[in-house]
Amino acid sequence: MITLNNICKQFPKSNHKLFDHLNFSLGSSQTVAIKGRSGSGKSTLLKIMAGMDTQYTGIYEFNKNVVTKNPRTLLSFRKNNISIITQNYHLLQDRSVGANLQLSISKKSKKEIEKMLFLVGLENYASKRVSLLSGGEAQRVAIARALLTKPKVLLADEPTGALDEQTELEILNLFQSIKQLGTKIIIVTHSDLVSNICDTKYTLTPKKLLLTTN
Ligand SMILES: Nc1ncnc2c1ncn2[C@@H]1O[C@H](COP(=O)(O)OP(=O)(O)OP(=O)(O)O)[C@@H](O)[C@H]1O
Ligand SMILES: [Mg+2]
Repeated sequence: MITLNNICKQFPKSNHKLFDHLNFSLGSSQTVAIKGRSGSGKSTLLKIMAGMDTQYTGIYEFNKNVVTKNPRTLLSFRKNNISIITQNYHLLQDRSVGANLQLSISKKSKKEIEKMLFLVGLENYASKRVSLLSGGEAQRVAIARALLTKPKVLLADEPTGALDEQTELEILNLFQSIKQLGTKIIIVTHSDLVSNICDTKYTLTPKKLLLTTN
């Protein structure tokens, strides 16, 4: 579904090549873990896959179609195919859980929002203010929001990085149920607990993604 061909990435004003002809194929994997040292480019790679970063060379294909860099085409690409949960959730702290979810879908379907909050185990949280949530609850809201558009692929950037082990396990269970929705998941993680539930594991070594076998 996702194929990256010879992706090269260098930030402007940096003389360091982050990716040098990087290749990746999601293949038939349902869940993929991406590990790698801090600063190796994991978040940048997810942003490229999410269509949020177009400053790269090489070809990105989704379902055998080239993902163009045209902003309008990219917008519909994202709406129809892919969601990302970023490293710091990007929730509006002073708004309610429900309001945060409504912002991500154009037709404000209360029913859909209730269904999604139920899926993530927060069925009574719609009117609760985000600033009052625990880290694990905020992560669930971010997951619910990402799933509202029914993405084919969910990208998650260190979704359990800030959580204790018990909460991490709860989030992992949630990912297992998302798998059953047919959504493919690519997770950037430092955690073995997380990578061990994934079908395929990669490590981002300097400039390249390598399949990890263990
Ligand atoms: N907008 C930017 N402009 C310049 N350099 C950037 C920018 N964003 C990221 N970088 C640099 O690119 C490198 C990769 O960053 P990235 O956030 O992708 O790493 P990461 O693997 O996700 O790290 P971590 O595990 O700490 O989250 C870092 O050296 C970072 O400083
Ligand atoms: Mg990162």
